[in-house]
Amino acid sequence: ETKILKVDPGSIQFAADAHLNGSLPTFADDESKRVIQEASKILRDSDNIVAFPTETVYGLGGSSLNDNSILNIYKAKNRPSDNPLITHVSSIDQLNRKIYGENNLGKDSLLKNVPEIYHSLIDQLWPGPLTILLPVPNASRNTLSKLTTASQSTFAVRIPSNPIARALIALSDTPIAAPSANASTRPSPTLASHVYHDLKGKIPLILDGGPCSVGVESTVVDGLCRPPMLLRPGGFTYEQIVKLGGDLWFDCKVERRKTLESGEKVRTPGMKYKHYAPSAKVILLVPGNIGNEREKIRKLISVIDEQCLVSHGSIKKVSILTTLQLANVSSSELKSALNVDLTVQSLGLTGEEIQANLFAALRKADEDDFADLIVIEGVAEKDEGLAVMNRLIKAAGNEYKSF
Ligand code: TXA
Ligand code: MG
Repeated sequence: ETKILKVDPGSIQFAADAHLNGSLPTFADDESKRVIQEASKILRDSDNIVAFPTETVYGLGGSSLNDNSILNIYKAKNRPSDNPLITHVSSIDQLNRKIYGENNLGKDSLLKNVPEIYHSLIDQLWPGPLTILLPVPNASRNTLSKLTTASQSTFAVRIPSNPIARALIALSDTPIAAPSANASTRPSPTLASHVYHDLKGKIPLILDGGPCSVGVESTVVDGLCRPPMLLRPGGFTYEQIVKLGGDLWFDCKVERRKTLESGEKVRTPGMKYKHYAPSAKVILLVPGNIGNEREKIRKLISVIDEQCLVSHGSIKKVSILTTLQLANVSSSELKSALNVDLTVQSLGLTGEEIQANLFAALRKADEDDFADLIVIEGVAEKDEGLAVMNRLIKAAGNEYKSF
């Protein structure tokens, strides 16, 4: 009973300032328009929830203003209810009207509800994968469901750039709470089929807009504390935030930053959680001191050998996901050195490619008992590498080897 409806993102056009003044998009394709209208009606008029594409990952959306919608989100995902949700709006105008109850703000006071520290960032990065924290409005004005914010004093908000997400939110004229549309602990979905796999029978509708272009979730920043903090690395890099944020962002701190130098143990609690985790065992290879490719390949073989040994032969199928150093590793060489069924797959060579392929590869490695052991070649924690390693460290639990 879960419907999947296709929407063509290329058929939806927004004016350049639509994310400020809230003007509605035009549709070049009637069927896409009809589907978006159907989905936006569900979000506006019912407690039901809808999965939809964003530029980062697919989201599972429900009205941020309605307790029952939020309960339905937590239930479908099986998500712990103390983890607050991001509210998605289509424009600053919608934020002012629907969350602050201010209807007629002129052009000059459009940003009155957004602290100045964010102005430069949102001016340059919205619509897009940037999430900011704002203070929850006073009780008398507040329209947000307490369940959206998990009763915190701040709420998280972003304007997505994906035209389907923007059109859906604009037409429903409702702020939409949307966590990633995966079952809790599974890798985030970057295709409609991933959502269907995890949530079929639990939600009425999935909008299929094709693959997500960014592939990791939005960057979450807190500009309400001093110094400001990057709470979750994501679609925009730390380096971009510092560069584009203006004077107050130069000393931006990274929450629980862990640089995995060789031999260093992961101690922070967040790192212990299995998240983004396939059901096969995952080992992360962290770039370290080993200088040349031959030695890296020897190390890879010894890591797999060791796992086979300690598993008492229960590891029969191994999947290797490569990035930079192992880009040219030959699977026939590995096969002759190891007595296992082996597949080697590249995640990509640039930060953007690796981000876009990451979650699909983690899911694929897990399909049809594809592998008992997944070995992933990590990257340096800079630029896109910070967000990539944040996800890979969680996918691997505590299992990493320096190489
Ligand atoms: O790209 C994304 O952000 C995707 C798409 C669908 O937009 N959404 C997403 O939502 O990743 P979710 O629920 O999977 O992640 C939300 C993150 C969590 O790490 C949560 O703890 C944090 O944002 N968050 C939300 N509200 C917060 C708040 N008030 N204070 C601190 N962190 C908050
Ligand atoms: Mg998530």
